Amino acid sequence: MEIYLDTANVEEIRKAAQWGVVSGVTTNPSLVAREKRDYREILEEICALVDGPISAEVLSLDAEGMVKEARELAKIHPNIVIKIPMLPAGTEAVKRLAEEGIRSNVTLVFSAPQALLAARAGAAFVSPFIGRLDDIGQDGTAVLADIVQIFRNYQVETKIIAASIRHPWHVLEAARLGADIATVPFAVLEKMYQHPLTDRGIERFLNDWKNAFEYQKV
Ligand code: G3P
Repeated sequence: MEIYLDTANVEEIRKAAQWGVVSGVTTNPSLVAREKRDYREILEEICALVDGPISAEVLSLDAEGMVKEARELAKIHPNIVIKIPMLPAGTEAVKRLAEEGIRSNVTLVFSAPQALLAARAGAAFVSPFIGRLDDIGQDGTAVLADIVQIFRNYQVETKIIAASIRHPWHVLEAARLGADIATVPFAVLEKMYQHPLTDRGIERFLNDWKNAFEYQKV
């Protein structure tokens, strides 16, 4: 399973790219709003840092507007993928964009039938929001499991991005279920590295080395 970063913060992306584990980035209007910077400029910088799919979201709610926005965003870099909300107008835009060779990522997906519609329209990616389902007392990973199963049944080529990830356990579940990608906030990526035994192990190795070195010097 690939790991994407779910952020519009260029510094976070720079760090994660240096760590060598991230193969794409997803952004959304809320994440961009936090940065208080020009979206186009942010996207250009992200594309220079990560050589993989970079999702940029449209704001229009009608197909014509979505397609227009998508064409502009797609001009920024060949790696730009257009995030389109799960609506009838959205699937219309996805189909039209696919015909033009522009890849889409259908977002705000909360059920398997919605994911199936996105795939039928020709979306390159579909993003079920696991955490937001859990937040309202539903089972986000169960929805993800259904989508994986359905896409397998019919050899659907649309890639599944497990999104709205809240903690490393969500990443583990997504990988177990067979999602293609998990897009994670930077804080979750940091947590994925952490284990108390790793810290204790490093401390012990360094202490043993230090003690041996000091012993030799005596
Ligand atoms: O980028 C889409 C999704 O991952 C947003 O997650 O945390 O706002 O539910 P969240």
